[in-house]
Amino acid sequence: MPTDTAYRVTPQAPIPSGFGPLTTAREALGGRDLSGRTAIVTGGYSGIGLETTRALAEAGATVIVPARTPEKARTAAVGIPGVELETLDLADPASIDAFARRYLASGRPLDMLVNNAGIMAAPLTRDARGYESQFATNHLGHFQLAARLWPALKQAGGGARVVSVSSSGIRFGGVDFDDPNFERRPFDKWTAYGQSKTANALFAVALDKRGYEHGIRAFSVHPGRIMTDLVRFMTDEEKAAGGTAYKSVEQGAATSVWCAANAGLNGMGGVYCLDADIAEGHPGHCARGDRPSAGRRASVGDRSGLRGAAVAA
Ligand SMILES: NC(=O)c1ccc[n+]([C@@H]2O[C@H](COP(=O)([O-])OP(=O)(O)OC[C@H]3O[C@@H](n4cnc5c(N)ncnc54)[C@H](OP(=O)(O)O)[C@@H]3O)[C@@H](O)[C@H]2O)c1
Repeated sequence: MPTDTAYRVTPQAPIPSGFGPLTTAREALGGRDLSGRTAIVTGGYSGIGLETTRALAEAGATVIVPARTPEKARTAAVGIPGVELETLDLADPASIDAFARRYLASGRPLDMLVNNAGIMAAPLTRDARGYESQFATNHLGHFQLAARLWPALKQAGGGARVVSVSSSGIRFGGVDFDDPNFERRPFDKWTAYGQSKTANALFAVALDKRGYEHGIRAFSVHPGRIMTDLVRFMTDEEKAAGGTAYKSVEQGAATSVWCAANAGLNGMGGVYCLDADIAEGHPGHCARGDRPSAGRRASVGDRSGLRGAAVAA
């Protein structure tokens, strides 16, 4: 564990990794054997998450898949070795606490936390606390989950990784720290999605700095454009406007798996990744120099009652 060296910012530039847009999740592992390792993949029973689960499990990891739709998860997990199904609704803080409590009670360290679950362009709905649903699900739920699971990540004894599945939707804008829940500004479903995905990227920046002393590193990911159930809220016009170029789900899961497990990233963290490499730059509001935003991001979670003592250390 890096106890005697100061935290150093990883440059937001390709390594280069030798991988690219066509790399699959299996290839992105770089041949790593994950026997004896444990991963949690939220939303790991659909789309990119299911393929992430499959690649990590086939490499030997035990993969815990917490689902808000258990029947769907049971069907999806058939035939994948080493998968354990659980229940979790990221929009329900009590459900997150309960899942984390059960995990911590198992006494197992956590080597990889892949915060993958998400919704996109959902119409305005609010959770029981009044928080906008995309911000609550995509960002706040994962913030709370990482905070509650912090002891298990620390228990991994160095080498634990937290992956935030973000999106190129970070281009749509930053986090409105004064009105994250659209109480005083007009609601726009794409602005809300972009805000939640920028929060995912900033979360990785802030978490990496806080996790460093415990050997926990964090990354954010744009998986590419993949046809999945994520489009459920999109109109036909919106789907058509995006064109027909898609990655396969195997390619779409590659960057998540690379960030979760590839040894080529050892000693690095906090960066936004794409095509199984560190991306060449990203929008200004996500830049590494934007420390105040990363700090304020943490404070939005804290104000939401999600402060995890260990994460805030
Ligand atoms: N597909 C793309 O082109 C693309 C591009 C950029 C970023 N991404 C990101 O990639 C991630 C995975 O998306 P995907 O394309 O694989 O979509 P997907 O197939 O719709 O998978 C999303 C998963 O998240 C789960 N989920 C949603 N709300 C949840 C909640 N409240 N609690 C627990 N789980 C919840 C879903 O569960 P149910 O199935 O039970 O609803 C589903 O398993 C998302 O974060 C998305 O923003 C995707």
